[in-house]
Amino acid sequence: MPAEAENRHVVSQPLQVSRDARILLKGHKPKILWFTGLSGSGKSTIANALEKSLNEAGVHTYMLDGDNIRTGLNSDLGFSDADRVENIRRVAEVAKLMADAGLVVVVSFISPFEADRQMARSLMREGEFVEVFIDTPLEECVKRDPKGLYRKALAGEIKEFTGISSPYEPPANPDIRLVTRSAGPQALARQVIDFLNLKA
Ligand code: ADX
Repeated sequence: MPAEAENRHVVSQPLQVSRDARILLKGHKPKILWFTGLSGSGKSTIANALEKSLNEAGVHTYMLDGDNIRTGLNSDLGFSDADRVENIRRVAEVAKLMADAGLVVVVSFISPFEADRQMARSLMREGEFVEVFIDTPLEECVKRDPKGLYRKALAGEIKEFTGISSPYEPPANPDIRLVTRSAGPQALARQVIDFLNLKA
């Protein structure tokens, strides 16, 4: 029997501690800061600088990074279109739970498909989802090639590599667009912080 059919007998449990009560304790609003961009675009570097600044400012954060989540929760997924869709679906659900816990969640995944990023936004409350596009051109990512993956992808050693043999759909209307050629990670992280209103 498909899981959806079996799940019709599942009734959600009322919870005693409300989301508002958790937020009150945290002292700031929850957010999902969703970083999207090519491999090697600078997502993880800027996301790390951002989380560090927020943490030092007393904000309760968590980081969900594609490379890390793919070694645990999503270790059963590869890089076909279908697996990328499932990768994003799961991380969006995890981010939603973390926002319900009252955290500012930094999500750093290539998340190549517009429809999946829209789906993630649609799961969250109004104003809670912030799409941050790390706008580094493919040529620049190939030139930087911090993990040597573009070299392998161009040599045909990695199949379905984003930007080479698998598509990347840039966001048409990101909430924030960061141009990595224009400034360093600290300054770019500051641009995100300046955009946020975390006052509970
Ligand atoms: S996503 O497309 O499904 O959102 P995700 O962010 O989880 O990707 O993982 C991307 C990381 O996996 C890259 O930073 C890179 O280190 C590694 N990787 C390995 N194979 C590929 C591939 N075929 N395409 C893109 N990234 C890959």
